[in-house]
Amino acid sequence: MKLDLKNDIAEVLVSKEELQEICHRLGQQISKDYAGKKLYLVSVLKGAVVFLSDLLREITCDCQIDFMAVSSYEGTKTTGVVRFKKDLDINPEGCDILLVEDILDSGITLNYLKNILADRNAASIKICTLLDKPENRQADITADYVGKVVPDAFVVGYGLDYDEKYRNLPFVGVLAPHVYENK
Ligand code: IMP
Ligand code: MG
Repeated sequence: MKLDLKNDIAEVLVSKEELQEICHRLGQQISKDYAGKKLYLVSVLKGAVVFLSDLLREITCDCQIDFMAVSSYEGTKTTGVVRFKKDLDINPEGCDILLVEDILDSGITLNYLKNILADRNAASIKICTLLDKPENRQADITADYVGKVVPDAFVVGYGLDYDEKYRNLPFVGVLAPHVYENK
């Protein structure tokens, strides 16, 4: 399938400018909350990498980054089963961890990761998500830092994908249903 950016995006939900404002606001808040501590930003591959790279540059306290990779999606739907694909390089025991995610939807992914880190005795585990889709929550989980609450629509861009596409859009937009309905 060829990318047709003009027709594939039904609506821009978070503009480039708003994304910058969100990263600045969250970066300032996180820097204040973790002042004097060493912060481990753990990002969930691949969707959160664009957000992490902008957020990281707004953080002024001592911090380190690491990555985990999981997958639970097929097309636009969660399968409800999380597959573990890449573990951390660091040992999280005793670390103050902030999980950095692109979007909190059913909550199954972050709940799974939070439990893994808790089992490994992290000192603290908090969640920072760029987007929050609370309407579809299935796991009992809330984020400590939220960029923007969005409606229950499938969104792409700024790292978020549909079948590995659209990650390169500089904004977050709603994917037009014809893209996945007529696949
Ligand atoms: P959850 O386990 O349902 O909370 O889903 C979390 C993961 O599903 C996110 O990290 C995304 O990778 C993916 N996801 C959920 N909603 C969307 C969406 O609207 N667009 C793209 N990816 C999504
Ligand atoms: Mg993700």
